[in-house]
Amino acid sequence: MSADDPNQLVELSYISKATHDMGLSSLVHLFDVARKWNLDHELTGALFYENGHFAQILEGKRKDVLFIWGKIQKDYRHKILHRIELDEIDQRLFPNWALRFYGGDQIAKDVPHLVGLLDGLPSHDVELLRIMRSVASGNQN
Ligand SMILES: Cc1cc2nc3c(=O)[nH]c(=O)nc-3n(C[C@H](O)[C@H](O)[C@H](O)COP(=O)(O)O)c2cc1C
Repeated sequence: MSADDPNQLVELSYISKATHDMGLSSLVHLFDVARKWNLDHELTGALFYENGHFAQILEGKRKDVLFIWGKIQKDYRHKILHRIELDEIDQRLFPNWALRFYGGDQIAKDVPHLVGLLDGLPSHDVELLRIMRSVASGNQN
């Protein structure tokens, strides 16, 4: 398989900072649109929102992940602070989730370790990614 096979399964993760306060309705709208597109393109993953910061893990075919990454980077609603990773993977962490959302009470309950970590400092990468990945094992339904 060539290194840049467009059908290779990859995982992309990043953190970003919201450009304005994301109220509940704008979050719901963002999530609805994103989830539908992901469903249609066999993308899966999780989106975290806490304290004005997003963190996302996206999984899917390289061509689809890169296409939506192009759009996500240009999205005015946030500013990318740091792309953590774009890695080839053998299997998905979130096979059942077109986009699992964690924010508000949900993040405090299910991912308390993440609260306070989403501030974009590269030194937190390993820890951040570990926590983001760990939620997949606990929440597959
Ligand atoms: C934090 C964040 C995460 C996003 N995640 C996704 C996603 O997983 N899938 C998706 O289709 N769009 C996602 N979007 C939305 C895209 O950036 C973009 O708005 C969408 O693809 C529609 O683009 P268009 O208006 O050019 O058609 C996300 C946006 C933000 C701000």
